[in-house]
Amino acid sequence: MAGETAVGIHDLSFATTEFVLPHTALADHNGTDIGKYHLGIGQRSMSVPGADEDIVTMGAAAAAPIIARHGFDRIRTVVLATESSIDQAKSAGVYVHSLLGLPSATRVVELKQACYGATAALQFAIGLVHRDPAQQVLVVASDISKYDLESPGEATQGAAAAAMLVGSDPALLRVEEPSGLFTADVMDFWRPNYRDAALVDGQESITAYLQAVECTWKDYTERGGRALDAFSAFCYHQPFTKMAYKAHRGLLNSCGYDTDEAEIARAIGRTTAYNAVLGNSYTASVYLGLASLLDGADDLAGQCVGLLSYGSGSVAEFFAGTVVPGYRDHLRTAGHREAIDRRKPVDYARYRELHEHSFPTDGGDHPTPSETTGPFRLAGLRGHKRVYEER
Ligand code: CAA
Repeated sequence: MAGETAVGIHDLSFATTEFVLPHTALADHNGTDIGKYHLGIGQRSMSVPGADEDIVTMGAAAAAPIIARHGFDRIRTVVLATESSIDQAKSAGVYVHSLLGLPSATRVVELKQACYGATAALQFAIGLVHRDPAQQVLVVASDISKYDLESPGEATQGAAAAAMLVGSDPALLRVEEPSGLFTADVMDFWRPNYRDAALVDGQESITAYLQAVECTWKDYTERGGRALDAFSAFCYHQPFTKMAYKAHRGLLNSCGYDTDEAEIARAIGRTTAYNAVLGNSYTASVYLGLASLLDGADDLAGQCVGLLSYGSGSVAEFFAGTVVPGYRDHLRTAGHREAIDRRKPVDYARYRELHEHSFPTDGGDHPTPSETTGPFRLAGLRGHKRVYEER
């Protein structure tokens, strides 16, 4: 039994990249009808990292406002979830910890299970807080979604980091028990260590995701979870925003409900605003869905929200949270809007150049061009070591 303490998300902040590619530019290049992107997959633009940005600079930028508001006295653990890791041994979280100036008396670790990793991190954090409610855990989900040029996945690329402060008596969302869980060994999406871009079987991945939704919900209800009509909104992992609609339609179908499109739009529509313009941010995606809902919806105080986290390969979890009365005083809506609006549009040629950027592997001194304006930058690679700078 988890105990009486209410534990959950106390603060939530996201950051993204310096550049953005509108889907109109991609459609112009490859001759695709823009309707396929805007309506078919529900995407308007994708965040594109500069050569001096990566999961560390985004993760630190997402977390910095949280540290500025709450300090770090209660933070004893940092968990960074990613599937676009920069090192096979060292946690990207250690770089983030350093850039944020967190105390050395902290445990830091990186977690991976495709896009699901941040939910594992959140649940681990909740367990730690139940063990000692005085402690808080900084969870950072940071990813750059990258597919081969001209592949079907290209239009679903994106990049962002979400940072969450997890603690007792949270200001935003109380996370509830039980969770519905599901794991299946499938090859729907993967990235071998020698590859920069992910490999994916697109239709297989959609089928695997839909099966995971059904199975997590079954486990959730068998463990005494809430009824479907108790939820006022559902935040799904959004590899592209139309996937959330497919998922919810599938869930309603499997529960024997009518798949009324207006009802689906009511449950999903407010969760997609950020992901539609940022693109797939893998681990961060479901929490950007939550940020979009909290920032954009009418007052949700006391209402119940469902979260469905899916990571290819695959692992999924469904859980519920109750929105805390007064949560609106703690949102970062203006900062989130600014993170989106400050991005500089690039044309297809520049996007392609950035997409193809990689560091030489010779261990030499390879400074990056200074082309971004965020609070942190990757200054270069020196002797196989990543060098970061604070602005
Ligand atoms: N106007 C309006 N709609 C149009 C259109 C037009 N002119 N042209 C096509 N469409 C619609 C299609 O009908 C289709 O809609 P439905 O799915 O509702 O049938 C939609 O646009 C997409 O068209 P296609 O299926 O033909 O697109 P595609 O095969 O080229 O690519 C994709 C789609 C497979 C999802 C591809 O983008 C991809 O591989 N993406 C990466 C994998 C992915 O995101 N998988 C999701 C589940 S896995 C997961 O969630 C983990 C993760 O983060 C990766």
